Amino acid sequence: MSTIVPASITTPGIEAALAAAVRAPSPHNTQPWRFRVHAGRIDVLLDPERVLRVCDPDAREALLACGAAILNIRLSIAEAGRTPIVDLLPDREQPLLLATIRPGRPRSPGPEDIRLAAAIQRRHTNRRPFLDRRVPLHLRHALRRAAIAEGARLVLLDHPGQLDAFAALLRRSDQLQTQDPAFRAELAAWTRDGAAVDGVPRTAGGPRALDGGVLALRDYGGRDSVAERRFERDPLVAVLQAPGDTRLARLRAGQALQRVLLTATAHGLSASFLAQPVEVPAGRAVLKAMLGDREHPQAVLRLGYGFPATGTPRRPAHAVTEALPQR
Ligand SMILES: Cc1cc2nc3c(=O)[nH]c(=O)nc-3n(C[C@H](O)[C@H](O)[C@H](O)COP(=O)(O)O)c2cc1C
Repeated sequence: MSTIVPASITTPGIEAALAAAVRAPSPHNTQPWRFRVHAGRIDVLLDPERVLRVCDPDAREALLACGAAILNIRLSIAEAGRTPIVDLLPDREQPLLLATIRPGRPRSPGPEDIRLAAAIQRRHTNRRPFLDRRVPLHLRHALRRAAIAEGARLVLLDHPGQLDAFAALLRRSDQLQTQDPAFRAELAAWTRDGAAVDGVPRTAGGPRALDGGVLALRDYGGRDSVAERRFERDPLVAVLQAPGDTRLARLRAGQALQRVLLTATAHGLSASFLAQPVEVPAGRAVLKAMLGDREHPQAVLRLGYGFPATGTPRRPAHAVTEALPQR
């Protein structure tokens, strides 16, 4: 990498965009990104040291997370009244360089840009029980449109039998992961008890479900200290399907994932992830076949009405950003 000077991000729009970027979700809150700022341009880089070796051996989920960060940067620039100009995977010689983004021509932000940008700081993963309240049709459409706007498809598992089949696959995939000592060690290494700037706080894991619940949620080990709770009886589960599974397709899917999550937040919905079947290769193949075998399942979400969840920590933007000297 070129000579690095201490980070100094001076352009206010760039600073806001980076603060938005680091709020993106990431597997185990690894935050697998780094940023470079140069002449008003933001480079988004993959941090290979923060890719989960067991859970995410080919960095698929890390690329989704970086894609989500890219959408946050785009929205922040759009909200500031400029057209974001994005170049994904701009340089074959720099495989870690995932995107360059710069503010282009002035443009009044649209209402959607404003709504979604405002949701960035409010969006949190919510692993607690949701209410037994149906997500209305118009919101289901809004979530689907959000995925389509980024070139993906959100499939809601609302046909009879689909949810049961998925729940069984989720349970099997969850068992496969938790029986693997390497998976357990990795999860433990990223689960935090005290103050930290990354990893999942044990308290962010949901309570144990009374009667086992319909869906197997990932256990972060904090469940023994809280009472069992009843989860929603008829959960809304959605699979994000992408047209491909290349690095480019994953970066685009990450932007679609984040647009879906921010749309949910903007409409007062909570979401949590059910990644086990897409992380386990056999589970992924079954899920792909279940949904027609043409597209690639990239993420699975549980959506509904919950009580607001608290945020998880992040490394501040300046700690993950290098300012490159002007040439
Ligand atoms: C690709 C991806 C997969 C994830 N998988 C899971 C999962 O299976 N279970 C879970 O509880 N959280 C999962 N998460 C949520 C992260 O743990 C969460 O984003 C991170 O801890 C940061 O917290 P926040 O989303 O509240 O900001 C996933 C996130 C991403 C981006």
